[in-house]
Order: sequence, then structure tokens, then C-alpha cells
Amino acid sequence: MTTLQLTFLIVVALIAQLAMFAAIAFYRQWQSFTDLKRQLAEWEGHQEGYVPQERKLPPPIKPLWLECREFQVQRKVVEDRNHTVCSFYLIPMDEKPLPSFKPGQYLTFQLDLEDADTRASKSLVRCYSLSDEPHLEYYRVTIKKVSAGKASSFFHDKVQAGDILQVKAPAGHFYLDTAGTGPIVLIGSGIGITPVLSMLNASLHQTPPREIWFYYGVRNGEEVIMKEHLNQLAKQHNHLHLYICYSQPTEQEVKGVDYHHAGRIDITLLRLTLPLKPHHFYVCGPKPMMETLVPDLRAWGVLDHYIHYEAFGPASLTKHEKSRSALGEEATTSAELTVTFSKSGKMFPWKKTATSLLEFAEDHGIAIDSGCRAGSCGTCMTPLESGEVEYHQRPDADLKPGNCLLCISVPKTNLTLKA
Ligand SMILES: Cc1cc2nc3c(=O)[nH]c(=O)nc-3n(C[C@H](O)[C@H](O)[C@H](O)COP(=O)(O)OP(=O)(O)OC[C@H]3O[C@@H](n4cnc5c(N)ncnc54)[C@H](O)[C@@H]3O)c2cc1C
Ligand code: FES
Repeated sequence: MTTLQLTFLIVVALIAQLAMFAAIAFYRQWQSFTDLKRQLAEWEGHQEGYVPQERKLPPPIKPLWLECREFQVQRKVVEDRNHTVCSFYLIPMDEKPLPSFKPGQYLTFQLDLEDADTRASKSLVRCYSLSDEPHLEYYRVTIKKVSAGKASSFFHDKVQAGDILQVKAPAGHFYLDTAGTGPIVLIGSGIGITPVLSMLNASLHQTPPREIWFYYGVRNGEEVIMKEHLNQLAKQHNHLHLYICYSQPTEQEVKGVDYHHAGRIDITLLRLTLPLKPHHFYVCGPKPMMETLVPDLRAWGVLDHYIHYEAFGPASLTKHEKSRSALGEEATTSAELTVTFSKSGKMFPWKKTATSLLEFAEDHGIAIDSGCRAGSCGTCMTPLESGEVEYHQRPDADLKPGNCLLCISVPKTNLTLKA
């Protein structure tokens, strides 16, 4: 064989090798692309391929029991170094079976508190997420004491093991679809960890195992709760990817030992750590985080019905924007609409800038009882004598016919409210 022939053979062999590598790389890319498409199609219930759907509000959920049921506090456990977060384990007084719930749902408490000034008893309603997976023996809620907070201070300072509390059935539309098999991303910031912790604990029992990405954000080790439990779970389950994020780690705290990421949970962290797959995102945290992270997820290309979220407290602006655009609705309120409060004998022109009828009533000095201010507890339910309202989000509370929830609604037409 001549040198020329040998060189020719070597070049041909090299080209063949390169072509083979390129073909394998292309095949792998193609496989992951079709896998992505198949998963999307499966989750949407379409065999042919993914077809975008108009977002539909979930149907109402039937409560497991009506009105309040008595629960005894079996245990009270301090969860953090600062002593500002406590868990309460609750068992039913009637000793009847404890119904299951959907991980992510909350309990509504009807509390009787003594007014510090008048010493008169005042009823107060607050919602707290169930923070553990469903158990046969108990429900667990985990409560952060907020400064000057009436209900949270009551729980921390007054409620002890043996005390009896009035509790409404688990409710809420922010819950994990435990029948799903696709990968999930659970994001909890601060006390917003509670519903996603319930989701995490429940989803680890699913078979086949589901890929779970869990991001938990706090300032530092003073605030963190359930860290040992989370680390233990991550050790036991290699399909769980845990990111404990400290926004202000102390000098003694070491990255990789005490926490995984320095900084807040944001879209950059998610983009850097998540593989390219159609994950379902479940997010719960303070309003500022929700107001940036949720739009950032959408801007990243995550479809609306893959983003599930809940904010504790007043329904946030993000929610308003989301439900309106998702429903394809235009804001129908206008400066000409009027709201009449028949019991108070007052009428005012509706202000476009008001975020809810509750806020609007309060701004005009009309006292309306409220609890969650997020459509969950039913405290602000008010008879609607005439007109129509439009909701920012589906009410979680059991809505009686002819009534409306002022905290999550705005007028659609001129209104007369019995308030
Ligand atoms: C669906 C849902 C689930 C929830 N889950 C949880 C959970 O798992 N864990 C949890 O800890 N919380 C949870 N929350 C929040 C909880 O329901 C309460 O909102 C929270 O505990 C605060 O209630 P509070 O009565 O202690 O505070 P409030 O008395 O209602 O006060 C709220 C805030 O207003 C401030 N404030 C009150 N009075 C004044 C005043 N006169 N002047 C100035 N500021 C004032 C307080 O400092 C406080 O920051 C959830 C809420 C919802 C809607
Ligand atoms: S205040 Fe709870 S539903 Fe309106």
C-alpha cells in the first residue's frame, strides 16, 4: 500500500468516526426532544401532541365537614432557633376518623380572642396550611409569630397542649396533583414552606418515584425550620434535589455544609439548576418574591397551567393580572360604576385603583369583618342585593347563593351590597 493510499484510508476512517459521533449526538438530542414532547402531550391528556388550552378555574371542592369541628392540641413544637415558628399537632375531639386532604391545602381556625383594651371576646378567623402529609392520627399546622399579629401571637403565647380549637375542614385550590408522574419543582420561602413541605412529604411516597426539586429560602440558620428532616429526605431519596438558600448567611455558616446557595430563590438559580423539562412549579412565599418569580417563570416560557402558587395574606397583584389575562378578560370596571352600601346608607363611585371591594369599603370607613383577605375563610362574605361582581380568583370559601366575597372581587356592574 502506498503512503497516499494509507493517508486516504486514515482520512476516510476519521470522517466515518466523526459522522458516527454526529449521528449519535443528533439521535440523543432527538430522543430528549421527543421525550419532552411526549411528556407534555401525556400530561395534557393529548395523544397527538400538545395543544395549548384556555386556563379553566378548578371546580369547587366539597368540604370534608361543615362548619367547625373541635380539635385538641396534642403537641406544640418549637421549630426554629429564634422561637418564632411553632408546629401544632391536632387531633379530633369526636375521635371520628380524620379525613385525608390534598397536600397544599389549609385549615381555617375560628378563634375567640380577648381584646387587649376592652377585654371583650372577639371572634377572629385565620387560615393555616397543613404542613405535613396526610396522616390518620393528626393534622399539623406550622405558624410563624408575626410582630403585632393577633392570631399568630395567640397561638404562640396562649395555645398549649390540651387546648381545644374550632377548626373548619381542609380547603384550598393550591394543592399537588398526586396522580401526576412528571417532575415537580416545590418552592417555599420563609413560612411559605408549609404547603410545599406537605407536598414534598406526600410526593415521596409516590410510585414510580417522581423527580422533585425543592427550593427553600430563608435569611439564615436562625430562621430555618425542618432542616434535619429535609437533609435526611435528600439523603434517602436520590430523586429529591434539595436547595436550602440563605439570603443573608452569617459568617460562621458555610456554603455546602449549612446551606446550598447564597442568595434568594430567583429565576437565575432555577435556570442554572433545573434540567430542561416541563416541570410543574408550586410556589409559596412572601408577596415580593411572588411578584417577581411568577412573572419570571412565565417570561422563561413556563406555561401558565404549569405554575401553581399561593401567597399568604391579601391576594396579590400578580394574582389579579394572572386570572384576568388567563381568562382573556378585559378589566370591565370603569369610573362610572357605583357601589351602594345599603345598611350604611352610603353610595360611592368605584375607584379603578382599588384592588378589592373590601379595601374600597374600608377606605370609605365601612367596617367589614375580614380574616384571610384571600378568598379562603369566608369572613368577608356579604349579601349582594343587586349587580354583579367579578373575581380575581376562584373563591375557596363556601360561597352562599346571593353573596359575594369582598376581599377578592371588584364590581362588574353597579352594585348594592348589604353592608
Ligand atoms: C391560605 C393561607 C394559608 C396560610 N398558611 C400559613 C401558615 O402555614 N403559617 C403561617 O404562619 N401563616 C399562614 N398564613 C397567614 C395567616 O393566616 C395569618 O395571616 C398570619 O398568621 C398573620 O395573622 P395575625 O392575626 O397574627 O396577624 P394580624 O393581626 O392579621 O396582622 C397582620 C399584619 O398586620 C400588622 N398589623 C396588625 N395590626 C396593625 C396595626 N394596628 N398597625 C400596623 N400594623 C398592624 C401585623 O404586624 C402583621 O404584620 C396563611 C394565610 C392564608 C390565606
Ligand atoms: S377575608 Fe377571608 S374570604 Fe374574604
